[in-house]
Amino acid sequence: MLEQIDFTTKSIRDKTKNFIPEVGIILGTGLGGLVKEISVQFILPYESIPNFPVSTVEGHSGKLIFGSLGGKNVVAMQGRFHFYEGYTMQQITFPVRVMKALGVKTLCVSNASGGMNPAFSAGEIMIISDHINLFPTNPLIGKNINELGPRFPDMSEAYSKKYIQSALEIAKQNNIKVSTGVYAGLTGPCFETPAEYRYFWRMGADAVGMSTVPEVIVARHCGMDVFGISIITDLGVEGRVETVSHEEVQQIAREQEPKMTLIMRELVSKI
Ligand code: HPA
Repeated sequence: MLEQIDFTTKSIRDKTKNFIPEVGIILGTGLGGLVKEISVQFILPYESIPNFPVSTVEGHSGKLIFGSLGGKNVVAMQGRFHFYEGYTMQQITFPVRVMKALGVKTLCVSNASGGMNPAFSAGEIMIISDHINLFPTNPLIGKNINELGPRFPDMSEAYSKKYIQSALEIAKQNNIKVSTGVYAGLTGPCFETPAEYRYFWRMGADAVGMSTVPEVIVARHCGMDVFGISIITDLGVEGRVETVSHEEVQQIAREQEPKMTLIMRELVSKI
């Protein structure tokens, strides 16, 4: 693993003239529009990066983008890898480890999710305050690589309180309605049954989705600070469960893109 990270990092450094990003961004479903705000310096398609998996889902195009956003050097993943595509947890989280090796100190993640909290409506923006790992496994299972992080990493503040506070202030200043909440991450690919949504709500989750948790675990393991934001694209509220499709998820996410883009850009400028 260390050799792979090293090899990939060297190859990226060669292709980006030793660009050093300090912030890493993972752009989720339909949220790729943040790229338009980045002054792009280099674009590397995943196929051109050694050891990188190649993404298979429609709507996830698969490029690593280097440039500046809000005055910071950033690297953004346009297209992420999901467990339901058949990748291992190690493959899904490999890019986060490479980001760390490139110099990234803060990881910003975005995703789309289904909301169980009855106070939510479709299109709501939720700042992720915490998560519940409902994947059947964990990316840190196996021999610990001490050079990357500790065997038993602390997760008491998985999502940086400082950034949550900043994001709430940014939203308020710009009249954007946001909530905070707990994101439960699970495999998918099917959406949840009404009984599952009810179960996850009672368990303490406000929203549920199919990503983010593996990347955040690995980011915390290697000592990055994390900020996460989710767009509630559909509701799994008891008595109000709607049918949901990938297309609807993408469309609602696209509609909310400008607000989420603004929050992310302003937040990055304050990091
Ligand atoms: N469930 C799981 N993942 C999702 C959902 C959902 O309702 N909406 C968007 N991603």
